[in-house]
Amino acid sequence: MDEVRVCVEKAFTLAQVDERLFSSFIEHLGRAIYTGIYEPGHPLADEQGFRTDVIDFVKDLRVPLIRYPGGNFLSGYRWMDGIGPKEKRPVRLDVAWKTLEPNEIGIGEFYDWTRKVGSKVMGSVNMGTGTVQDAADFFEYCNYPGGTYLSDLRRQNGHDAPFDIRTWCIGNEMDGHWQICHLDAADYGKKALETIKMLKWIDPQSEAVVCGSSSGLMKSFPEWDRIVLEHTYEKADFISLHRYYENFDNDDDFLASFVELGTYIKAAIATADYVKALKRSAKTMYLSLDEWNVWYQRRQEPHDWQKAPSILEDHYSLLDALVVGGLGLTLLNNANRVKIACLAQLVNVIAPIFTKEGGSAIRQTIYYPFRDISLHGRGVVLTPVVHGPKKETKYGDCPLVETAVIHDEEGKTVTVFCLNTGKNDLVEFTLDMRSFGKLRMSFWTCLTGKDLSAENTFEKPNAVNPRNMPVEKTAASTFSITLPPLSWNVMKFAIVS
Ligand code: AHR
Repeated sequence: MDEVRVCVEKAFTLAQVDERLFSSFIEHLGRAIYTGIYEPGHPLADEQGFRTDVIDFVKDLRVPLIRYPGGNFLSGYRWMDGIGPKEKRPVRLDVAWKTLEPNEIGIGEFYDWTRKVGSKVMGSVNMGTGTVQDAADFFEYCNYPGGTYLSDLRRQNGHDAPFDIRTWCIGNEMDGHWQICHLDAADYGKKALETIKMLKWIDPQSEAVVCGSSSGLMKSFPEWDRIVLEHTYEKADFISLHRYYENFDNDDDFLASFVELGTYIKAAIATADYVKALKRSAKTMYLSLDEWNVWYQRRQEPHDWQKAPSILEDHYSLLDALVVGGLGLTLLNNANRVKIACLAQLVNVIAPIFTKEGGSAIRQTIYYPFRDISLHGRGVVLTPVVHGPKKETKYGDCPLVETAVIHDEEGKTVTVFCLNTGKNDLVEFTLDMRSFGKLRMSFWTCLTGKDLSAENTFEKPNAVNPRNMPVEKTAASTFSITLPPLSWNVMKFAIVS
């Protein structure tokens, strides 16, 4: 049996986790909004037409921020289409996704929905067809208390109090040729800077996320990021990065995707720090990984102009869930610089929650590792010393067992997440936590199974589900645990002395 030894020292702290690391994303895309979160005719719809089964699933994830309204959709979006009486709102062509946008949901309704699920809006403004003035108008409509044309319009539309949207994405993937009105880095940097100035003049407490690269695979990475930061460094609070992974031809290295994500994050940090040095700045730039997930882009079907077509509806397997777990560990282990991360997306569109129009909602496999990191990843990330085998992959060396360790001082607990990437063997996993004195294991959950292609379906909604593992209740400082092959594990320990 392979052995992995992990020595956890409580003084080896990396960072306090920013809870915004467990954020998500909903775009006007496919069935994310219409028949996803909103379906007025559904038997479980509330008085505003929001599906309460979906609300319950989202609430259980404890998602702090939800990025809205896009995505590629954003770069052609006129935010004023989505306010005022619904019957007067226009149906528009959404050129980004070739669909019809009815505008039945706009910022006011979405804000109401985020309150129902216990989240906040992470706003985004159109830097494609939109002007700096359009963006400033949107900021004013959302955040200015009242007494001006736009803030009073919000009040007339039913929201007396401002939305107080604190975090704003200044455009979406402006480096991509697929983006409506894609810009080059210098043009985007100049436009973003002027937009942030307006944002902060209107609402000095707001924070701005500038567009970094839409993937580490872009040829323009990291030059794009450098140029954008050279224009915006002193005004921006975060630079974004996006990354999706896909299992091409049963790729042996798919499970090592988290290694690649770590390399990408480190390169983005190095780029930001280069600009910091160049500018002799005292400020540190933080990262917002505001789109990440597994996404089978090659499976996309062509479709005609329709309202809410079934597009980007990936059905996730157990293997995909293990990959998402691994990516979550990389987020935690970079929590000193990555302060915001959005699982993309939340409902129906490459999402952990899936609905049937008029029918039920299910949790996809990836729901579970995401929920695990969100519920148990809050606290201080520690940097353990790990001794164990590694495997060579195209992304670099992949540890047999990848871990993340969280110390919750207030709750007096230590949580150990581990992903066993080994296909065949059980792993003898030894945790040495003597710096904490004695601990008692409160639970261990494990997501694993013989069939890596297993999925949750409407017929079998719980086919893939984490299960409780037997735990040794005796207080101790060192624990020896046998990990099943290809498994995602969460272990919680209460600090006894
Ligand atoms: O999340 C799906 C799409 O992926 C988003 O609209 C875009 O920003 C990215 O390319």
